[in-house]
Amino acid sequence: MTDQTTTLDFSDGSPAVTFPILTGTVGPEVIDIRALYGKTGRFTYDPGFLSTASCNSKITFIDGDKGELLYRGYPIEELATRCDFLEVCHLLLYGDLPTPAQNADLQSRVIKHSMVNEQMQFFLRGFRRDAHPMAVMTGLVGALSAFYPDSINLHDAHQRDISAIRLIAKMPTLVAMAYKYSVGQPYMYPRNDQGYAANFMRMMFATPCEDYKPNEVLVRAMDRIFILHADHEQNASTSTVRMCASSGTNPFAAIAAGVACLWGPAHGGANEACLNMLYDIEREGGIAKIGEFIARVKDKNSTVKLMGFGHRVYKNYDPRAKLMRETCHEVLSELGLHDDPLFKLAMALEKIAVEDDYFVSRKLYPNVDYYSGIVQKAIGIPVSLFTAVFALARTVGWIAQLNEMITDPEYRIGRPRQLYSGAARRSVIPLAQRA
Ligand code: CMC
Repeated sequence: MTDQTTTLDFSDGSPAVTFPILTGTVGPEVIDIRALYGKTGRFTYDPGFLSTASCNSKITFIDGDKGELLYRGYPIEELATRCDFLEVCHLLLYGDLPTPAQNADLQSRVIKHSMVNEQMQFFLRGFRRDAHPMAVMTGLVGALSAFYPDSINLHDAHQRDISAIRLIAKMPTLVAMAYKYSVGQPYMYPRNDQGYAANFMRMMFATPCEDYKPNEVLVRAMDRIFILHADHEQNASTSTVRMCASSGTNPFAAIAAGVACLWGPAHGGANEACLNMLYDIEREGGIAKIGEFIARVKDKNSTVKLMGFGHRVYKNYDPRAKLMRETCHEVLSELGLHDDPLFKLAMALEKIAVEDDYFVSRKLYPNVDYYSGIVQKAIGIPVSLFTAVFALARTVGWIAQLNEMITDPEYRIGRPRQLYSGAARRSVIPLAQRA
């Protein structure tokens, strides 16, 4: 908060009104317009929230022009190269990186909660085998509130912490169960002697007949996917979680709302959409057809987008994409996939698009999902599961944001207003008299 103010003048002769200007640690100042309606009887109009700070947060900072992403002040580049995912979870949840003792404590708490209630298997059986994993995940995560009723009071700090650990611990188990169910394989229980990412990969790829031998490069790549997707400020799914939890609902229900929002192709669904786009181009003829595809993307009359490109906030580059690109090449080398036609196509499309004036002039660069889809595909994660992996990773961010909101003294239920442009008041004409 500063003692700076700004005054809004109206050209229609209404009295001018003055508003405080609030200053954050870094980033643009914000005009505190909470008193606007009371003082003027007017609302602001900002569909898509292009100029609206919906809350005050200490968790994540993004400078879209510089391509900077900080979790609790730490650059994403340092976190991705010096920490593992559970350290980042500690940072996001509790405000700082863990000491070795805190790290061991978090690891042991997460490990102890990684199994899910056995009854969950029967719940899962209600789904069709070919159900989309995000449909399944929305249901499973929401259902956790029915299985763990002892940690659903959002206003109890202890219950919030238990539900946070439960969600972080159980998400890999649930995502792997959703996958195993879809392919008709037995579920693999989590193991307490595995790290977080390795455990997830084991639950995905092992069977009772054959154990999964973790590959260091691939486990590290998965862990990096988790770190890079862990939080991203007030994006659509995080805002959904905050809005949902603002009613006082339980944490599992709020996170299920986040999962549902993330599913959309303009948000977390982009990695799946990106791979499907690559398959389409491959079917049409591969690298030779990139030119035609790009022409369709540029055509004003088409709705085709280059999936995995563009971002609402990053207008120079997405720092997560830079890290994911590096991982992408490491994984492709490790698996000897550089000559695989699909991956060659992805690299050729990226090269052409980043040099094309349409994308350059609109500041459209590859985002994290362009590469995370390729990495996941190379690791063997089925395309339809990509967004569920994103949800797994983002869960910690959603929880950190939800906890911050609920403990904020300024917290109130979210209730935006609107510009109404429907019919003015009118009277109902009895049915028989209507023309
Ligand atoms: N392909 C082709 N044109 C695009 C694309 C794209 N991927 N993205 C934006 N544009 C064009 C858009 O048509 C518009 O052109 P014009 O000025 O001629 O009308 C211009 O660029 C500005 O786009 P916008 O729609 O105003 O940008 P936005 O900030 O509303 O949308 C976005 C951001 C991410 C939704 C959009 O870029 C997009 O749909 N990208 C593809 C989906 C995607 O990869 N999403 C993942 C985002 S990163 C993960 C996450 O954080 O969820």
